[in-house]
Amino acid sequence: MKRVFGVFGDPIAHSLSPAMHNAAFSALGMDCIYHAFRVKPEKLEKAILGAEAMGLGGLNLTVPLKETALKLDCIKPDPLAERIGAVNTIVFGENGEIKGYNTDGLGAKQALQNAAVEIKGSKIVVAGAGGAARAIAFQLAADGAEITIVNRTEGRAIELAKDISAAALSGDVTGRGLSELKDLLQDTDVLINTTTLGMHPNIDTAIATAEDLHPSLTVFDIVYNPLETRLLKEAKASGAKTVSGVLMLVYQGAEAFRLWTGIEPPVELMKKTVLEALQA
Ligand code: ATR
Repeated sequence: MKRVFGVFGDPIAHSLSPAMHNAAFSALGMDCIYHAFRVKPEKLEKAILGAEAMGLGGLNLTVPLKETALKLDCIKPDPLAERIGAVNTIVFGENGEIKGYNTDGLGAKQALQNAAVEIKGSKIVVAGAGGAARAIAFQLAADGAEITIVNRTEGRAIELAKDISAAALSGDVTGRGLSELKDLLQDTDVLINTTTLGMHPNIDTAIATAEDLHPSLTVFDIVYNPLETRLLKEAKASGAKTVSGVLMLVYQGAEAFRLWTGIEPPVELMKKTVLEALQA
């Protein structure tokens, strides 16, 4: 009998996860299907318990459910998801146990590693202090990066830096206002944009321009709509190395696939599928 997997969110119609996971199941000859379900936060617990009762293979959670999930009694979060304060992957255990993970930070880490970035000891500036910044900064701090969070609302950057420092992870974390970005970039190895600047329909905006960047910098924009954001164009013009946000989407999905199935997913095919869907 076909095993059903899914993603819960609201809105969910434009999710790329069904195409990505169905391509992987099909390539591996697995009798599985992945479907998108529109679920509101107030119905999340019922939906997860229902999915467990019906024997679903596993779930992803997306906006606006990731933080809500962590507060549910039915989910046992792993330590990283608990620190991040959000769950994006649910694994159903044999004995009815429902486990919550967060693979977003790992997705970002693998996207950087794919571009040959050494994370331990590198100076990383994370622009933005929302949910995505939180997942990424917690993961990279745990991997020994020296992190500065810069945000338009400086207080949020300082708050996030404090949270990460309190978790006593190996890296050093500081919070700053966005006005300090230009100066900070002079002595930075990696810039990661997690703000909505550059995202459709605001495609002409960017957190930095070519003159703020330099050739020894790697610029990673987690925005993938459009595929080449204004920031990535500016980075190319400055001679910096660029990393596309599509890779984070693919690697977080690949990690969820491993957690559900224990099987190594076809990452290149998943990437190709997502790129085709975005270009369609
Ligand atoms: P997510 O959870 O997806 O990361 P979020 O919590 O809405 O999203 O965070 C969006 C981030 O983009 C925030 O860091 C926000 O800055 P503020 O905390 O000051 O709101 C940042 N952001 C959004 N629009 C921006 C703009 N025009 N200029 C600079 N930063 C912006």
